[in-house]
Amino acid sequence: MHALHYFCCWTLLGSLGLALTQKPLEQPGCDGTGLVDPDGRCNGDGLIHDPPPRDRDGFRFENPSTDCEYVTQMHIWDSFKDLEKDMTKLFTLIHKNVSFTVVGHHPIAGHYHDLLHFYVNALRRVSVLFFDHADKFKIHPQAIHGGCNDRWSVQEVNFQGVMNSGDDFDIVNVWVTRWGHHGQMVEIRTYIDAARIMEALHKNEIWWNGTTFRDNLQYMPGPAGMPDMKELEGLMGYPNGSKYQE
Ligand SMILES: *[C@@H]1O[C@H](CO)[C@@H](O)[C@H](O)[C@H]1NC(C)=O
Ligand SMILES: *[C@@H]1O[C@H](CO)[C@@H](O)[C@H](O)[C@H]1NC(C)=O
Ligand SMILES: *[C@@H]1O[C@H](CO)[C@@H](O)[C@H](O)[C@H]1NC(C)=O
Repeated sequence: MHALHYFCCWTLLGSLGLALTQKPLEQPGCDGTGLVDPDGRCNGDGLIHDPPPRDRDGFRFENPSTDCEYVTQMHIWDSFKDLEKDMTKLFTLIHKNVSFTVVGHHPIAGHYHDLLHFYVNALRRVSVLFFDHADKFKIHPQAIHGGCNDRWSVQEVNFQGVMNSGDDFDIVNVWVTRWGHHGQMVEIRTYIDAARIMEALHKNEIWWNGTTFRDNLQYMPGPAGMPDMKELEGLMGYPNGSKYQE
């Protein structure tokens, strides 16, 4: 009863807050070009001077223009923030044929020629290290440079979370991104904190974290995959050539 009461009112307050803080970008009488200032006046320069901090953690946009050939800095902020709660957003934010380079010397580094190879080999491999504390995973865009009328933008993005091992994780990645005309990233170079990624794999991934104290009860062949087990079974027997009676 109490919980329901609070739920209803917070939802209501939430929608009211939204209604109060979100000013329409176009007043009636503007010409639809998006060239407006915060008061909805059509001032023609495409800039929103001192945009009110909306629901974006008070982030200050270097270029808050909404009149952009490529993507606005607000779109970029939202794109990264969306991934915090829903990694599937990635599949529309990044073009399927993206050219994706993860810079560095570590297990997920390299050039990926499409989104699915990046997802399987790199992003998914790292994100499963956070599955047990998915609610603690946070993405904070810290700085956004470029974008808007520039095809390229640079993002400094803070990733925070708690790993399955219980250890805190807190790194800043730099994403250098080229945007296509559908508001998607088509080329990406990301510079990651290799030491922390390797530490995370070491602490949380069964392939990396073997110790003397582990019972190896299941096959873990590594990237080479399983050998021909029938052939190997055929090799086994006593030194005199006879086979086990099993
Ligand atoms: C992606 O690349 C493939 C192979 O080069 C091509 O056939 C396909 O049309 C591309 N898809 C898009 C949406 O660009
Ligand atoms: C190794 O990682 C696995 C998860 O893949 C985890 O269950 C296990 O506790 C870890 N072992 C050590 C010694 O860290
Ligand atoms: C071969 O060795 C096994 C194990 O010692 C034994 O049980 C088996 O009888 C031997 N077979 C022959 C043909 O000597």
